[in-house]
Amino acid sequence: MKAITLTDPDNPRSLALTDAPMPQLKDGEVLVRVAAAGVNRGDLVQAAGKYPPPKGESEIIGLECAGVIEDPGTTGRAKGEEVGCLLAGGGYAEYVAVPEGQLLPKPDNLSLAELAGVVEVACTVWSNLGMLAGVAEPHADGTAKKVLIHGGAGGIGSFAIQLCKALGCEVATTAGSAEKLEYCRELGADITINYREQDFAEELRGWADVILDMVGGPYLEPNVKALATDGQIVVIALQGGAKGEISLGRMMPRRQSLHATTLRARPRTMKADIVRSTVEHVWPLIEAGLIRPNISATFPLAEAARAHDHLDSGASTGKIVLEVR
Ligand SMILES: NC(=O)c1ccc[n+]([C@@H]2O[C@H](COP(=O)([O-])OP(=O)(O)OC[C@H]3O[C@@H](n4cnc5c(N)ncnc54)[C@H](OP(=O)(O)O)[C@@H]3O)[C@@H](O)[C@H]2O)c1
Repeated sequence: MKAITLTDPDNPRSLALTDAPMPQLKDGEVLVRVAAAGVNRGDLVQAAGKYPPPKGESEIIGLECAGVIEDPGTTGRAKGEEVGCLLAGGGYAEYVAVPEGQLLPKPDNLSLAELAGVVEVACTVWSNLGMLAGVAEPHADGTAKKVLIHGGAGGIGSFAIQLCKALGCEVATTAGSAEKLEYCRELGADITINYREQDFAEELRGWADVILDMVGGPYLEPNVKALATDGQIVVIALQGGAKGEISLGRMMPRRQSLHATTLRARPRTMKADIVRSTVEHVWPLIEAGLIRPNISATFPLAEAARAHDHLDSGASTGKIVLEVR
């Protein structure tokens, strides 16, 4: 098969379409013929040599894809079924082996390309905001949860805004330009803050029940300032660095908590639970048109390096997808 290979480990853009061995199915896996693969920031970090796949997983880049089951293996699935796939690696290729528990059905109203760009964000956002932080459950007095979503114009953020609004939450979000803030408002955000010009912690002082953070260290202290009593911060990325100061003295009397998670490093059983819960709770919202995939650009698989450049430039909103066939 053809797959994207990093031909020079010192050059993260040396992504070439080369021959690669067909994936060998293990028990409980299906072989999927890939139609499209989603591009994630983690892919850029992997190409830069800083985010290797978990042991035993494909070395090929690519955390999500959509396609058609070519070989159901021992699973009893139907050949020809259209599926979305949550992957630990292997998406930038013509074929990928996928554990059955990491397959998601294709909603009728999405194309395979749209599905390829929604799997990873849906599972990440639902597992953190829904399963962990409980944004779908209102307060005891019936009022909706208030959620601060950093990076609202990105792949994760644009999905998180729509999910939280579909669940009835109030949403504040940060982004780095007026155009991106406008995009966040179009997605439903109630409060938008330009993080380059405004101090979100001052603007939101004690407002947020839940914060989805992708900046890390430098945002620990301001996030605590923006957090309400009983609030929760969920850190999913460290774009600003892994270390920072946090005032436990401020958090303790307010019973606040801090979580830090990754999806890729979880065992397959946990990923299967997340996929099941995502399909149960989020797929109906997609099927009802309450959440729309936000594909801002598509590139042929052979131009993966250009897709990475585009994501890295900061010019994109929503998701970028690679068309495989
Ligand atoms: N832990 C996990 O399981 C998991 C899963 C998926 C993704 N992630 C990570 O989550 C992050 C977001 O993913 P993505 O797909 O949405 O990437 P993306 O589309 O590249 O978006 C990155 C976002 O970060 C925002 N940002 C950067 N610096 C910021 C700051 N100082 N304050 C507020 N926002 C800031 C950017 O905002 P502007 O463009 O407006 O500047 C942009 O919206 C990535 O680092 C990714 O690796 C983690």
